[in-house]
Amino acid sequence: MNIINDITALRNSLKSEQPIAFVPTMGNLHAGHLALIKQAKQLSDCVVVSIFVNRLQFLPHEDFVRYPRTFDNDCRLLSELNVKTVFAPNEKILFPTPQEFLLALPPVADTLEGAFRPGFFRGVATIVLKLFNIIQPNLAVFGKKDYQQLHIVREMVRQLNLPVEIVAGETVRAADGLALSSRNQYLNEVQRAEACNLYQTLLQIKQEIISGCKDFLTLQKNATNNLVQRGWKVDYISIHKRSSLLPAHADDVDLVILGAAWLDKTRLIDNLEI
Ligand code: PAF
Repeated sequence: MNIINDITALRNSLKSEQPIAFVPTMGNLHAGHLALIKQAKQLSDCVVVSIFVNRLQFLPHEDFVRYPRTFDNDCRLLSELNVKTVFAPNEKILFPTPQEFLLALPPVADTLEGAFRPGFFRGVATIVLKLFNIIQPNLAVFGKKDYQQLHIVREMVRQLNLPVEIVAGETVRAADGLALSSRNQYLNEVQRAEACNLYQTLLQIKQEIISGCKDFLTLQKNATNNLVQRGWKVDYISIHKRSSLLPAHADDVDLVILGAAWLDKTRLIDNLEI
């Protein structure tokens, strides 16, 4: 497995590789990432995984500094999966000068996650575009766990005519339903036991919609109240159209329920398609 930090060395090593399948990560790999990488491996022999904790997508008060960095273990897992190349640049390589060119994003980036983490998707889209330009992959795999991120990356690729196919990977869950995330490790034992209730709440809304309930506002309100009573601080529980991520109306089909909520200082997100 090649572990490469430098852009020229990376481009040289990928010169005769086609197709290139790319999985961007911020490291601290767990079974969710590994599933995306296995999916990429089914699509190409040449899989490039990037590991870079991107400060552009963290607000000043967020967890950029304490975000778990486990590079050696990540490389061990990647080499067990026979990944061809790990691109692990440092900040000087990706930002030799301050990153002053930033993408302007469509209004959807200011909703849901974007409403609570202003600038987050601008940071994500900017780094993803840089990584696409550096690696020039034929396809890239993004997890549905970050549903809005996947939507925005797809839109970016479509509207900027980027020659890369975006492939969606299913969310990997723990046995109790909690979506795997690097941030789960911030949870203590009691919080970890409670954490699956975000998923259970989305599941309950899904079941009510499947049984014919069309009163989305009441479903969202009741779900929020239930979580608040259990000790959560809820940012949003919201039902949207999958294709546009606009709020859903009663006669819409192809829906997704998205949620974000805090257990003490840990923020969890999840979603469920209907
Ligand atoms: O999903 C993530 O881990 C990050 O947002 C990404 C896509 C690697 C960009 O930093």
